[in-house]
Amino acid sequence: MSQPPPGSLGAPFVGEAFKFLKDPFSFTLSRTKQHGAIWKTKILSDVTVFFAGPKAFSFFMDPENFTRENGSPKFMQELLHPDAVPFLDGDKHKTRKRLLLAAFTDQVMDGYLPGVFAVIKRFLDRWVTDGEKAVAGDLSQLGFDVADYLFAASDPATSNVDGANDFTIMNKGTFAPPINLPFTAYGKAIKARDRLRAYLKEQVANKDGKGTALGVLKEARGPNGESLTARELEIELLHFFFAAHGGLTAAFAWILTVLGEHPELAAKLRAEANAKLPAGAAPTLVQTRALELARAASREVLRAYPIAPVTFIGVAKKDLELDGYAIRAGWKGAGAIWATLQDGTTFADPTSYKGDRLGDAAHAGLPESAFVPQGGGPPDGHRCAGEALIQLVMPAFFGWFTRNYDLSYPQQDSSPGGGGLGPLPKGGVRVKITKRS
Ligand code: HEM
Repeated sequence: MSQPPPGSLGAPFVGEAFKFLKDPFSFTLSRTKQHGAIWKTKILSDVTVFFAGPKAFSFFMDPENFTRENGSPKFMQELLHPDAVPFLDGDKHKTRKRLLLAAFTDQVMDGYLPGVFAVIKRFLDRWVTDGEKAVAGDLSQLGFDVADYLFAASDPATSNVDGANDFTIMNKGTFAPPINLPFTAYGKAIKARDRLRAYLKEQVANKDGKGTALGVLKEARGPNGESLTARELEIELLHFFFAAHGGLTAAFAWILTVLGEHPELAAKLRAEANAKLPAGAAPTLVQTRALELARAASREVLRAYPIAPVTFIGVAKKDLELDGYAIRAGWKGAGAIWATLQDGTTFADPTSYKGDRLGDAAHAGLPESAFVPQGGGPPDGHRCAGEALIQLVMPAFFGWFTRNYDLSYPQQDSSPGGGGLGPLPKGGVRVKITKRS
């Protein structure tokens, strides 16, 4: 006889929502250690089952088992938009997702790299002039400016400070108690979202976006001539910005931390970059794909540091059973990303960063849904749309940076700050960067 998954349901009305929102990484990892791969909690009024480790994660990602429609809590849908792709399912999701994936083919991504590195170089030039400093705040602006260039065709030579601040407010609001009042984090996030929506509407209406993802998405056509309407574009771009801003900021912060804390790896990365990249110029896609160690080191950054805690939430389509546990139709579910990436049965010594752990052969040999920093399943399912771009930009940055710059990294607390989405190192990423002659 199967039984319900283990786990506590917390207080009436809110369940364990506040514990989850306060630090979803620690919450899901400690519960997985306590209960195993499948456990339940209650978030607001919903019984929610979390699935950790390759087998359970794959089970959650199977579209026969869970739908994303009506899965995520209303407050989150409200923030991004109830009609955004993470909240859709079935044919509507597939059609929309396939159009969005047009912005992440090899051919178009190769064209984004010069603009992306123009933004990055602007910050690097400043850091070289500034001398030793904590760059976490600048990295948040950098992450935003890259997203702004890609998805709103902004000028890579200038920063959009108001936009970056608004996204930081929105990010904080996503993992705050969902109470919409002028002084609460959630209320402020809703206001920031409205300003960003107005900005995106204007960019979509007035920019052709040639050479950027905005331009590609405007031109994208499905097999039956489907296209994204201006409204759909505005909705999806808000989510793209939200994901790219938080994700890129965290990725760059942890790359600099890794280079500072692992000088032997940094030397090997430099040797690889010296052999495979020209000095100065932005790496191309073909050059980046040849950086085998930089690609492995990037995967390990995505595995070893907390960037996204869990997938979006789904709803069980029918009564389900896994490993003797009964999951009732209508219960909520989510993939426990962080707990899966920190699973010691898949990744020996999981809390250690090992730059060469996830080389191409090791990565290819992993079980399905073992390496899930950006979700699992096929690309036209609910896997992250930006995965290919992140896994191009990160190694390109590792290579380009070590080829052209030196970094010194004073003693500091590099443990993650905790909470929310993509918490940055506590020490604020204090570095001194010099240009190599
Ligand atoms: C260019 C940057 C990015 C873009 C445009 C982007 C876009 C998206 C989109 C559109 C989805 C929803 C997919 C769907 O439901 O069909 C998604 C999901 C997701 N993304 Fe990203 N993303 C980006 C960066 C990142 C980064 C850096 C991470 C973490 C390392 C990340 C992690 C995830 C995760 C965990 C999901 C949820 C998967 C699920 O619910 O099953 N994304 N992303």
